Amino acid sequence: MAYRIYNKYISAKTSHRICRETHLSITSHLITEPTQRIRTREAYFSDIEFSTKRGQLDMVWWFNVPKIVFGEDALSELEKIQGSRALIITDEMIQRLGLPTRVEEILKKRDWQVAIWNGAEPDPRVSVVKMAAAEMEKFGADMIVAVGGGSVMDTAKAAWVLYARPEMRLDELTPFDTLNLRNKARLVCIPTTAGTGSEATRAIVVREDETGRKFATINPELTADLAILEPTFVAGLSREMTAYTGMDALTHAVEGYISLWKNDFSDACSMRAVKMIFEWLPKSVDALDDLQAREKMLVAACLAGMSFSNSQVCIAHSLGHSLGSVLRLHHGLAVGIALPHTIEYNSHDCPNAATQYQELAELIGVREVEPESAARQFAHRIRELQRAVGFPQSLIEAGVTKKQFQDGLERLVEYTMMDSSITMTPREIQSDGIRRLYEHMFEGRPVDF
Ligand SMILES: [Fe+2]
Repeated sequence: MAYRIYNKYISAKTSHRICRETHLSITSHLITEPTQRIRTREAYFSDIEFSTKRGQLDMVWWFNVPKIVFGEDALSELEKIQGSRALIITDEMIQRLGLPTRVEEILKKRDWQVAIWNGAEPDPRVSVVKMAAAEMEKFGADMIVAVGGGSVMDTAKAAWVLYARPEMRLDELTPFDTLNLRNKARLVCIPTTAGTGSEATRAIVVREDETGRKFATINPELTADLAILEPTFVAGLSREMTAYTGMDALTHAVEGYISLWKNDFSDACSMRAVKMIFEWLPKSVDALDDLQAREKMLVAACLAGMSFSNSQVCIAHSLGHSLGSVLRLHHGLAVGIALPHTIEYNSHDCPNAATQYQELAELIGVREVEPESAARQFAHRIRELQRAVGFPQSLIEAGVTKKQFQDGLERLVEYTMMDSSITMTPREIQSDGIRRLYEHMFEGRPVDF
C-alpha cells in the first residue's frame, strides 16, 4: 500500500518533528493516497523540510477559532451579519424540524435573498458535496449558513471550497493551499448536535464515492466566520443521538489533550470540555428538555472542537473513521467505543501519555499517583459514563455480527493505517496492534498490551 512507501520517507515521528519546527499542520497529507500521488506528497514534505532549514517558514504557533455566540437567543446574532444572498445548507430531517426556516425568517426580515438546499447526507460523499457547490454557484451565495450536525457542516465547508475553487480535488487539498474562500462567500455554522465541533474546526471529513472510504482534510480557511450555539436547535435530539454525539465530543477533548501537537491553548479547551461532559452529558440524556444541560453540552462540544482543531485527534478517530467506512457505524458510536480501549493502549509503555490521561482523570476526581493506573481508571470512568447514558461498549453491543466483523477486519486495519489521525497518536502502533485493538473492541475487553 501507498502508506508503506510513504512511511519509508516520513515516519510519524519525523512528521511530528517537521510540524513542530514549522508550526504547520499537515495531518491530511500523511494520508496515504493511491500510489501515483505519493511522489507529490513526498516532494511536498521535502519542500517543507527544505524551507524550514532555510528559515522561510514562520516560527509561530497559532490558535484558530471562529467568532462564537452562545446562550439564550444566540440566533439573534444573525440580525447583525452583512451580505445579501444566503444559501442555507441542511438535510431533510433538520428541515422537517423547521430550524432552517427560523434562520430564513430572521434573514428575510433584514432583506436578504434566502434559499434552502436540503440535500446533505450522513457521512457526505464527494458527489453530494459537488451538488451543494453547484447550488451555491447557481444561487450566487455570498453567505453560506450550515444548519445541522457534523455531516451538514462538513458538506457546507467542503462545498465552499469547490465553490471558490471548482478545479480543486478535495483529496488533494492541503493546509498550505490559499483558497481565498471569502472572496465569494462567508460561512456561518449553527450546529444541531452537541458533538462534532465542526462549527469550530478547520477540518472536514468526506467520503469517496467509489470506495466509501472516509478521509479527513484541513485548511485554516475552513474555520467558519461565525458559530452560533443556540440551545433550542439541539432540543430535538434523541437520547441515543445525544449520547453518541456527546461521546464524540469527549473523544475530541481527550484526543486533543494527548495528541503530539497539543499546546497550552488546546489543553485549556480540552480540560474544561472533559469536566463539563462528565457533568452535563448524563443530565442531557436524562432530561431531554433540560435546556441548561443542552447549552452546556453545546459549549463543551465546541470547546472540544476548538481543542482538536488546533491540536489534532488521534487513533480513536482513525479506528472510528474506518468503522464508519467499512461497517457504516455512526461516527460518535465508533469513536466512543474506541476511546477507552485506546486510552489503555496509549498509556502502556508511554509515560507521557499516561501522565496526560492522569491529568484529565484528576479533573473528574480520580486520585491515583501512578500514571498508568490513573489512566486505566480514567478509561474505567469513561465506561461508567457510557453505561449511565446507555452507550454501547463493544462492537457486539453496537449490533456488529461476528461475520461482519471478520469479513471487514482486514479492510478496517488497512484503512486505519491509512488514516491521517494515527500520526498524532503518542504511542506508535503497527497493523498487528490495530488488529488486536479491534478484536478487543469487538468484545469490549479492556486492552492489556
Ligand atoms: Fe469526531
